[in-house]
Amino acid sequence: MKLILLGAPGAGKGTVAKMLTEIDGSVQISTGDILRGAVAAGTELGKKAEAAMKAGDLVSDDLIMGIMEERLKEDDCKSGYLLDGFPRTIPQAEALKTLLEKMGEKLDFAVEIDVPRDVILDRLTTRRTCTDCGAIYNVKSNPPKEEGKCDKCGGAVVQRDDETNEAISNRLDVYNEKTAPLTGFYENEGMLLKVTATDSKTVIDAIKNKLG
Ligand code: AP5
Repeated sequence: MKLILLGAPGAGKGTVAKMLTEIDGSVQISTGDILRGAVAAGTELGKKAEAAMKAGDLVSDDLIMGIMEERLKEDDCKSGYLLDGFPRTIPQAEALKTLLEKMGEKLDFAVEIDVPRDVILDRLTTRRTCTDCGAIYNVKSNPPKEEGKCDKCGGAVVQRDDETNEAISNRLDVYNEKTAPLTGFYENEGMLLKVTATDSKTVIDAIKNKLG
C-alpha cells in the first residue's frame, strides 16, 4: 500500500504506521524519525533541523523535499510505503505530487486520523520513545515491561526533546495553521479518508476496508 498519514501530533500516525507495516511489508517513512536520527548523529542535516524541532516549529520545505526525494528512490519502497508526518505543508504536498508523477508512482489515498484535542494532550505528555529502534510506548496505555527499557531491542526509552508543554502547544498551533489545510488539498484530489477514532484498530479497519 502507498498511503499518507495525516493527523495532529499525537493522533497516532506512528502507531498506526507500525501496525500497517505488518500487513504487507510496506515501509514506514517518518520524517520526524529521520530528523531525530540526524540530530542524534550530529550530521549537517541534524544541525540544521535541531533548533526548529526542539521549539516545535517546522523544518524548511527544501530540506524535507531533499530528504524525501532520496528516500522514495530506495529499494525498500517498492513494497509500498506509509508517509508518516510528510507532507506537512501545501508546498510539500504539491512538490510530492510532482515528484510522484515524475517517478510514475500513484498513492492509494491519504488518511486523516482525527482525535480530540484533550486526548492528544494527554497522549503527548505520556508518550515515551525508544532512542534506538523508535518503538513507541505510553506510560498509561502501553508501558514497556521494564521501565525505561525497550521490549523490542533493550534500548533506552525516553521522553522526546519536543515534549515540553511549550513545544507541544506550539506543535499543535503549527499543525492547525500549516498542516490542517492538507485535508482540504487531498479532499479536492478525491483521495481523503477521514477516520474519527481514538482506537488504532478502528483506523486500521477503515484503511483495510477502503483498500478493498
Ligand atoms: P514528528 O515526529 O512527525 O511528530 P508529530 O507529527 O508531532 O507526530 P508525533 O510523532 O508527535 O505523533 P503521532 O501522531 O505519530 O503519534 P504516536 O503514534 O507517537 O515530527 C517532529 C518534528 O520534526 C516536527 O515538529 C518538525 O519540527 C519536524 N518535521 C517532521 N516532519 C516534517 C515535515 N514534513 N516538514 C517540516 N518539519 C517536519 O502516538 C502518540 C502517543 O499516543 C504514544 O504514546 C502512543 O503510544 C499513544 N497512542 C497512539 N495511539 C493510541 C491509542 N489508540 N490508544 C491509546 N494510546 C495511543
